[in-house]
Amino acid sequence: MNNSSWQQRKNDAFARGMGNIFPIFVQRALNAEIWDVEGKRYIDFAGGIAVVNTGHSHPDVVKAVRQQLDAFSHTCILVTPYTNAVELAEKLAVVVPIDDAKALFVSTGAEAVENAVKIARVATGRPGIVAFNGGFHGRTNLCMALTGKVVPYKKGFGPFTPQIYHAPFPAEYLGITTGDSLAALEQLFSSEIEPDRVAAMIIEPVQGEGGFYPVPKGFMAELRAVCDQHEILLIVDEIQTGFARTGRMFAMDYEGIEADIMTLAKGIAGGFALAAVVGKKAVMDAPDPGGLGGTYAGSPLACAAGLAVLEVIEKEALCERAIEIGERVKASLAKLQLEYPDHIGDIRGKGAMVAMELVKNDDVTQPDPELTKALVGKAADSGLILLSCGVRSNVIRILTPLTIPMDQLEEGLNTLTKSFKACA
Ligand SMILES: Cc1ncc(COP(=O)(O)O)c(C=O)c1O
Repeated sequence: MNNSSWQQRKNDAFARGMGNIFPIFVQRALNAEIWDVEGKRYIDFAGGIAVVNTGHSHPDVVKAVRQQLDAFSHTCILVTPYTNAVELAEKLAVVVPIDDAKALFVSTGAEAVENAVKIARVATGRPGIVAFNGGFHGRTNLCMALTGKVVPYKKGFGPFTPQIYHAPFPAEYLGITTGDSLAALEQLFSSEIEPDRVAAMIIEPVQGEGGFYPVPKGFMAELRAVCDQHEILLIVDEIQTGFARTGRMFAMDYEGIEADIMTLAKGIAGGFALAAVVGKKAVMDAPDPGGLGGTYAGSPLACAAGLAVLEVIEKEALCERAIEIGERVKASLAKLQLEYPDHIGDIRGKGAMVAMELVKNDDVTQPDPELTKALVGKAADSGLILLSCGVRSNVIRILTPLTIPMDQLEEGLNTLTKSFKACA
């Protein structure tokens, strides 16, 4: 059966809301390559949306999971816990840039965000949460409320949980400065909610789905100061930026300040369903026993994968590789920008989290979602899996596995360039 017959079967069997970008049904994937049911090969510049930082089916991850599978696959951590979850929590507490941290495991990024908010509310006794426009935090009700993009994430799904407020995210390319964002927060505190009713602020250090906008230098420190002034907790959502993606273990490693809580998922376990909340001990211990968790929280298979992922990141120096990959990708895109300055408005990113923003007439106010969509389609036809993002759907984002061989990176960049030229 070919891709289109499988797509037809999927359309008949799946709710329409669970769409897929490509009508490409995967048969096999290894490191940075994917093969579909028709035997066609693709270079993967999506990495399962920043999940397989260590590549598809990294042999060390596969081995660790197989060993765990031979021992047991589930007992429920809330009933009879197991040692690899404890080991992983200990290791995460050491690698996150938070002093004196402890962890909590769940299964998905959205759950991690939900739990971070639950913990912050209990720890502070306050209800309010401030999030940022363009942010994406997941698809559950609370996460939808936090998310700052209506279509497709929020449209028609309300009413949303109350006591959530939004401030502008400082996206330099869009002309929103640190000063604008901080002034808007002050305005929020005077017109919407008094700061001593705010439990936490939540922010991505590089907005992911929102368009790959990194916070400007110094913004996190300013935000930390506002939080400290009002005894508000700072939650940093590193679900997309974590685990070597940005060239450091976490994007917060660049900032020189500490979050109170960090949410982690995606790259944490190389493709196994695992997410974590990590934060200051006093904050994390606020909720009573039984208030946090879930049947599949901290699955032993996923924890085995998580421990292997941490070792692979260190052994294969994936932070350094992320920098190397990012520089090569940026150089290739910059060359394209020289030829097409009207179409490519901006190239940006941290480490191997790189984006180019497509516009018309080199005008930031004229996004080009049509060109973006055409490029993604053309690249897929030519054997390259490429993702878009952005509130205006006009950003191409590159999230290769950090283990991608250099010749495959070049091959993918060539395909990207040729596809762009065919569409522009
Ligand atoms: C920054 C961020 N937060 C939260 C989420 C939600 O994670 P999940 O899809 O695992 O629920 C995502 C997913 O893309 C994300 O990028």
